[in-house]
Amino acid sequence: MFLSVFLSKSQTASIIGYTVAVWLTMIACVLNLTIYGIPNKIDKFLYVIPSFAFSRVIYFMAKRCGYGYCVKGFHDIDEELTVSLAMIFVMSLVYLLLALYLYQVVPQTYGIPKKWNFLWKSQTPSPDEEEEEEEGPEVEYDQTLEDSDAKAERTLVHNIDKEDFPRYPLIIKDLHKVYPSMGGIPPKVATKNFSLRIKSGEMFGLLGPNGAGKTTLISMLTGMYGPTSGNAWIAGNDIKTQLEIV
Ligand SMILES: Nc1ncnc2c1ncn2[C@@H]1O[C@H](COP(=O)(O)OP(=O)(O)OP(=O)(O)O)[C@@H](O)[C@H]1O
Ligand SMILES: [Mg+2]
Repeated sequence: MFLSVFLSKSQTASIIGYTVAVWLTMIACVLNLTIYGIPNKIDKFLYVIPSFAFSRVIYFMAKRCGYGYCVKGFHDIDEELTVSLAMIFVMSLVYLLLALYLYQVVPQTYGIPKKWNFLWKSQTPSPDEEEEEEEGPEVEYDQTLEDSDAKAERTLVHNIDKEDFPRYPLIIKDLHKVYPSMGGIPPKVATKNFSLRIKSGEMFGLLGPNGAGKTTLISMLTGMYGPTSGNAWIAGNDIKTQLEIV
């Protein structure tokens, strides 16, 4: 679970998975039989890697059994075995909590990552943070190519007061999406500085030729992909920070 936070492709996942499962266990076994062989003690930091703690447990039990006094129960385990066993449980809890936390924060293929401090800091931006956002980088676009009604719509959206946002089922403000370049394909501008407001009771149809950016727009509104710049509010809820309510 912990490693899956950093892996998105099943191919890399199986390679890393096998590496961790097979190679770390083999390395741990070799170290147990050589430099950490009884009566030497294992270096404490190695317990952080679960394969080491686990193979240490197996090594201890096998070794003792080999000398004819097998481990019979909790009453006759020695100190290092106790520590190894305890560390398996402790570290599994630590990795589980880390995985749950990192999964929220590390960017994944889909969805919008939360801020690293989301656990103790409210996600709703404070008034001064909002100011910063509005002064954010202006996206360059050829204004002469923009239709006059699109221009008028942008002006309307810009003139809506923040307090009135909840009255609109949907407000889209300068929403811009650039897909990053991948494998030699240059970055692709899919949605260009799109602004729109939909009033209550209004019905809206989103039409456009293939590749116009309709799916990209809907994907941003549903939280599948984060916008490159701009923002949108659904019934006053910010798609970047209040996605759960959205
Ligand atoms: N994941 C992606 N990575 C890179 N480019 C993408 C990605 N998804 C879409 N694009 C590109 O972004 C542009 C907009 O695509 P989008 O799918 O949003 O258009 P659309 O209006 O839904 O088209 P259609 O009518 O064919 O469904 C297209 O040029 C497309 O090639
Ligand atoms: Mg589409």
